[in-house]
Amino acid sequence: MTASAPEEGLPHGSAPVLPHTRRWRAGVVQEVAPPGVLDLGPGYIEPALLPVRLMAGAYQNALAEYGAAALSYGHDPGALPLRSRLAARATAADGRLCEPEQILLTSGTSQALYLLATALAAPGDTVLTEEFCYDLGQRIFLDCALRLRQVAMDASGMLPEALDQALTEGAQAGTTTAFVYLTPTHHNPLGHTMPSVRRRQLIEVAAHHGVMMVEDDAYAELSLSPEPPPPSLAALAGYRRVVRLCSFSKTLGPGLRLGWLLADRETAGRLSGHGLFASGGSLNHTTSLAVDSLLADGAYDRHLGVLREQLRIRRDALEGALRAALGDRWALRTPSGGFFLWLRGERGTGEAELLAGAAGAGVRIAAGSRFGVPRPGAAAVRLAFSFNPPESLERAAVRLAAAWSGSEPAPEIGVRS
Ligand SMILES: Cc1ncc(COP(=O)(O)O)c(C=O)c1O
Repeated sequence: MTASAPEEGLPHGSAPVLPHTRRWRAGVVQEVAPPGVLDLGPGYIEPALLPVRLMAGAYQNALAEYGAAALSYGHDPGALPLRSRLAARATAADGRLCEPEQILLTSGTSQALYLLATALAAPGDTVLTEEFCYDLGQRIFLDCALRLRQVAMDASGMLPEALDQALTEGAQAGTTTAFVYLTPTHHNPLGHTMPSVRRRQLIEVAAHHGVMMVEDDAYAELSLSPEPPPPSLAALAGYRRVVRLCSFSKTLGPGLRLGWLLADRETAGRLSGHGLFASGGSLNHTTSLAVDSLLADGAYDRHLGVLREQLRIRRDALEGALRAALGDRWALRTPSGGFFLWLRGERGTGEAELLAGAAGAGVRIAAGSRFGVPRPGAAAVRLAFSFNPPESLERAAVRLAAAWSGSEPAPEIGVRS
């Protein structure tokens, strides 16, 4: 990865800057791109945007306020202060009462998906997914011996009639559908947000078949336009038969491994009754108290404001540079929020060609086929704008366009990679 901007330049500041190779290194973090490679592959937050000093203060606050109780086994469903605050935020956003008993703290969305795949489903059951969706979510389901069936989508998300058909056919074939897995807001990888009408239609179809919906809302708080996204599926369904998964990974930092799920009281109670919580208590107790202190004094919301602005700048930089460099034969939609831009190649371009060109140009990107089966003649790739400063994103766009058009990239004057 490229050297990140000094954290002193950002609103939260940080400890003194060490060489990035010492701070961000293989064996400590999940992935490190080779030197000189511009990494637009993973859905990570740029290191300079991770709020190091804010979190240091948050842990200090939690230990000062709760003392030894912050280091004990935590209350099974998660510490009540944070669950109460998350419930109050949902009540305010959704305009309906959400109680703390409906909230279960999780170790991020990944762990919540695993919990749902094991506690609400049995091996051999089917999960219905959008045609394209979060690849590692699919992998968790497959690793829990669930079957996946993709349901057709359009630019607004899953098609209600296709969902109806899949559920009808599943019932006729005698298979059990465990749940429908959807990412309605700031979709990964496609970047769109599902309109309210479509949300209501899908809820109606799922309710008609008596099937549970799992709403992956990892990017819900990262809208990059002034209008807020439509109400969540959970809110529209009156918190019935929808489990909504939220995470602090994309806002405060994935290393915290902290998220929460919102469900009806019965489902949340059933899930928190799992032996995992009886044995270990809340999955991330100390961190949840630390994060609660940020929600309590408004620091979290201020941080979100800064992060959204920084992400918007990065999205605009990458999108603008790609449009300028690639011209209009490439299909590209402005993402409503989140981390990703989905780029469809010119007709006739193959995915292997796109990937080889990017690799040759020193840019890491994600293959579209990781997320679903591309339609013939529609090779696509996902580019993350979350992990690099704007100048690096612009350079990546220039390199990609040159590689994909077969021309030499223009020399990058005064730039070291
Ligand atoms: C749609 C989606 N869900 C879940 C996750 C993982 O979230 P967490 O870090 O909370 O496990 C990601 C991360 O890339 C994601 O894009």
